[in-house]
Amino acid sequence: MKYDIEKIKKNCPCLNGIRYMDAVDSTNKEARRIAPDGEDNMLVIAERQDGGRGRLGRSWHCAGEDAIAMSILVKPQIDSEKVSMLTIIAALAVSRGIADAAGLDTSVKWPNDIKSDGRKICGILSESVFSGSEFYSVIGIGINVNNDCFPDDISDIAGSVKQCTGKCVNREDIVIEIINRFYEYYEVLCREGDLSSLMDEYNGKCITEGGINKYGELILADGSLKRSGEV
Ligand code: BTN
Repeated sequence: MKYDIEKIKKNCPCLNGIRYMDAVDSTNKEARRIAPDGEDNMLVIAERQDGGRGRLGRSWHCAGEDAIAMSILVKPQIDSEKVSMLTIIAALAVSRGIADAAGLDTSVKWPNDIKSDGRKICGILSESVFSGSEFYSVIGIGINVNNDCFPDDISDIAGSVKQCTGKCVNREDIVIEIINRFYEYYEVLCREGDLSSLMDEYNGKCITEGGINKYGELILADGSLKRSGEV
């Protein structure tokens, strides 16, 4: 079933607009295309994404109407070195949103893989761009919602909300919960400037040993810190 965009608009008062498309190469790319002239707090969302991008140069498989492919465009008033914290709040928002909309508990592999039953059900790709005096961030979120199966190359590692709960879930309910949770966390991050009030919640869900500090950095076993990448 296609998205009910009016329902998303009505239930996400923090958004200034929604760019909705039937098909797109990548919602992150589209968000970056509209960003220079676009408003703050926009949602880019598509029924189908044919050239989805993942972290570390990988591609992202998106199963049409069984999956969610969306990007949030924000123009935050925070220092550039703090943008990696947007990734952390996005992971929290996705985990909470999936719990609230679908009743599924998930864990987070630092920095932002959302997993359930050991399988990845969501990936997040945050990209920040400095253009002249403007600075914006695109937070791309891909979620496997009602998939029954996956291509061979990812069938061992990928999972969907439906596979974990046994139930089909309405995609816009998940989108609405995630957007609203994201803006709650975003308000805290912008007001406080770090993750002091949010890191305990994140660490409670984090399956990566060490957990994060108030800047979203992973605390490694030898006490050193990792700001980005993978473990
Ligand atoms: C990862 O590698 O785990 C991150 C995957 C991010 C995929 C999402 S789908 C929506 C948005 N558009 C993209 O091209 N990528 C992100």
